[in-house]
Amino acid sequence: MKNDFENKIFNIDCVEGMKNLPPQSVDLVITDPPFGIDFKAKRENYHRNSANVLEGYTEIKGKEYYQFTFEWLNEVKRILKNSGSMYIFSGWNYLKDILIALDKLNFIVVNHLIWKYQFGVVTSRKFVTSHYHCLYVCLDDKKRKFFPYARFSQDSKNKKGSALHYLDKEDVWTINREYWSGDIKTPTKLPAEIIKKILAYSSEENDLILDPFLGSGQVAVVSKMEKRKYVGFEIAKEYFDFILERLETNSYRIKNQTEIQNCLEI
Ligand SMILES: C[S@@+](CC[C@H](N)C(=O)[O-])C[C@H]1O[C@@H](n2cnc3c(N)ncnc32)[C@H](O)[C@@H]1O
Repeated sequence: MKNDFENKIFNIDCVEGMKNLPPQSVDLVITDPPFGIDFKAKRENYHRNSANVLEGYTEIKGKEYYQFTFEWLNEVKRILKNSGSMYIFSGWNYLKDILIALDKLNFIVVNHLIWKYQFGVVTSRKFVTSHYHCLYVCLDDKKRKFFPYARFSQDSKNKKGSALHYLDKEDVWTINREYWSGDIKTPTKLPAEIIKKILAYSSEENDLILDPFLGSGQVAVVSKMEKRKYVGFEIAKEYFDFILERLETNSYRIKNQTEIQNCLEI
């Protein structure tokens, strides 16, 4: 893999895969590691259009979560540039394991962001979870890239006179999930809008963006759309093949060919 990793994705375990990347080669990491909650991503768990849901989502056992987290973060530490940064999405269940591992490895937590989304699972005996945590971290706080007016100029204001760049930089981000009805999908994915926002603030064109846990490949696909280079790993073969097809055909969403065939035959 040496010197041949840019704009490539690999169907292997990310800890093994990252060992082949040179030190200080990555500008930005955006990632959403497995949840550790015995997440069942099987096709039969989805009632409608279940054939569109890809199989193979690989979970981490709760009792192994800290060790697993330490190992992948340790590799990121070796390959991340001093000017780089990392955004890690996490539910609350294993957030503490991630925070402790980051601390042990001397990462600096820059912000603890909250991603508020439009839908949570309905509950009757507790509050509805409708947010995700996103830890924005780096190795060198003086050298890390950050472009404060990348999305809104210093003088842009809304009708009430509030500065748009300030509002955009508040640490609670309200961004809708994407549903992709009728198209092939994985059960969890980051919306393009959230990835675009991170890319704008923390990277430049041609920077190398890494996602060790690609899932549906959103980070690689959106990085390519935004003229960044990408590299990433996904252990599930069905997911990997799906990402490859998205990247090779420059397709954001892909129709299920079996469904199309069935429609044509009716
Ligand atoms: C929460 S999902 C990522 C979703 C992704 N952010 C997206 O937008 O589609 C985590 C992914 O990590 C994969 N995975 C689990 N263990 C892995 C490992 N050791 N190496 C690479 N991928 C792994 C899972 O199969 C799953 O697809």
